[in-house]
Amino acid sequence: MNDSKERYGALTRFFHWGMGLLIVWQFLKFFDRINDGEHWVGQTLVPWHISIGSLLLVLIVLRILWAVGQRKNRPEQDPATALLVKAGHGLLYLCMLLLPITGLMIMIGNGYGWSPFGKQLVARGATDIEWMATLGSVHSLIAWTLLILVVGHVGMALLHQLVKKDGVLRRML
Ligand code: HEM
Ligand code: HEM
Repeated sequence: MNDSKERYGALTRFFHWGMGLLIVWQFLKFFDRINDGEHWVGQTLVPWHISIGSLLLVLIVLRILWAVGQRKNRPEQDPATALLVKAGHGLLYLCMLLLPITGLMIMIGNGYGWSPFGKQLVARGATDIEWMATLGSVHSLIAWTLLILVVGHVGMALLHQLVKKDGVLRRML
């Protein structure tokens, strides 16, 4: 269950790959830019955006608490690049936290309501908070930032696996 110096434990790996899958699903929202979302992806997977995003909000809070508790017994980073790796992973966490928060700000600020998985938490038209809608509008910018970070992150994982062959990928598997 717990992490160790040799590898990430089961719960960390569950968070990593489970949330990774859900975040890729969330990125499909970019496909709304193609033909106004009138295609298979837009009509079957993208309508889950609010529900999956709300689930991700709960997951990232739990993941941060877990990571703080595990920080003393996680695999060591190569000292030459440890700071860079910490900064990169820190930015991934920051985007994963800010996306659901700004997403919610769009919904509540504009009075669109909030009904994850069909359960109404805030009714449509119940709110109208201009500053919140304005702040929420950075959602798209953060989504692009996370996309770039993830591409770089996967690129580094492949570099470790295929070029450096130092077993970094294995400790997350
Ligand atoms: C980790 C979680 C999330 C990710 C990765 C994510 C990603 C995205 C992406 C890629 C877009 C398309 C942006 C564009 O085309 O420029 C988008 C738009 C949107 N998202 Fe999210 N999202 C997340 C969570 C949420 C949540 C929790 C909500 C609401 C409760 C939400 C509400 C929206 C709305 C209303 C839009 C359309 C408005 C806009 O493009 O600014 N998102 N999101
Ligand atoms: C949305 C996609 C992803 C996000 C947001 C993400 C985020 C993270 C974060 C924050 C960490 C630091 C450990 C932690 O606290 O969990 C991490 C570690 C790691 N990730 Fe990802 N990841 C994603 C996808 C991937 C993919 C597709 C791969 C492989 C191709 C990958 C390979 C790794 C590896 C090997 C580590 C361990 C690095 C180390 O030794 O510290 N990740 N990831």
